[in-house]
Amino acid sequence: MAEQNQPTEFEIRDQADKMARELVRITQNIAFDEEALLDMVQESIGPVEHFFSNYTCAIMEMETKFKVLNEWFSLKYDGNPIESIKSRVKDYDSIMRKLIAKNLPRTLEAIEENINDIAGVRVICSFEEDIYRLARCLLQQDDVTLIRQKDYIRNPKPSGYRSLHLIVSIPIFLENEKKDVKVEVQLRTIAMDFWASLEHKLKYKKNIPPEKMEELTRELVDCANISASLDKRMQNIRNSILAPEQET
Ligand code: GTP
Ligand code: MG
Repeated sequence: MAEQNQPTEFEIRDQADKMARELVRITQNIAFDEEALLDMVQESIGPVEHFFSNYTCAIMEMETKFKVLNEWFSLKYDGNPIESIKSRVKDYDSIMRKLIAKNLPRTLEAIEENINDIAGVRVICSFEEDIYRLARCLLQQDDVTLIRQKDYIRNPKPSGYRSLHLIVSIPIFLENEKKDVKVEVQLRTIAMDFWASLEHKLKYKKNIPPEKMEELTRELVDCANISASLDKRMQNIRNSILAPEQET
């Protein structure tokens, strides 16, 4: 009996053959499933890519607006009001952290509706007056809608931070549609930018004892005041140089 139950060599080979064929079939199925998976991923990533691409386009439009103003003012006033422009699309991690902090659903609609700084354009000027001149020129353009303005130059933050912030909406023109996209514009002088970059780096340093931190915070506010007075003095120098020219 026991001997009868032993598989013959033929049966073993047959079984192994069946298993090999089954394995091939499964592997082929997996390959097919991987394709399907890739299609699915592409399908869900597509709208996300379009979503972020709108902000990249809005940045291009906004940069062009400032470059045009810079060109115009450089001819009119004999000097470029803009030192440099830095732009960025907010990264996915930061967006997620903001959604969580604000207790918002993780959807593209919620992001579009509630996060105003996905597209960020930072315009660095030499003089404070140029900031207000550029902001005024931007806001009077008929395709620019002001959503919110925060003047941290006239009302600096307790940290000492100074800049003019504008949340605006501008249209981008796609194949068959026009889409309004929000952009955060930060206008600063070189001095304001210098202070903000250093303060930002120091703020994220870890393991600073609380007493030391308090001292550094006071020191940073002091530096912000010095930087503000430097801006005023440079502005006065420029005004006194330009004043006789403008009188003629
Ligand atoms: P958030 O973008 O979430 O901060 O929104 P908010 O409505 O509080 O914006 P707010 O206009 O106050 O600041 C937005 C941006 O300004 C920040 O992301 C920074 O780039 C800059 N900022 C504001 N306060 C400070 C500050 O104290 N130090 C520095 N270095 N940057 C600041
Ligand atoms: Mg921000």
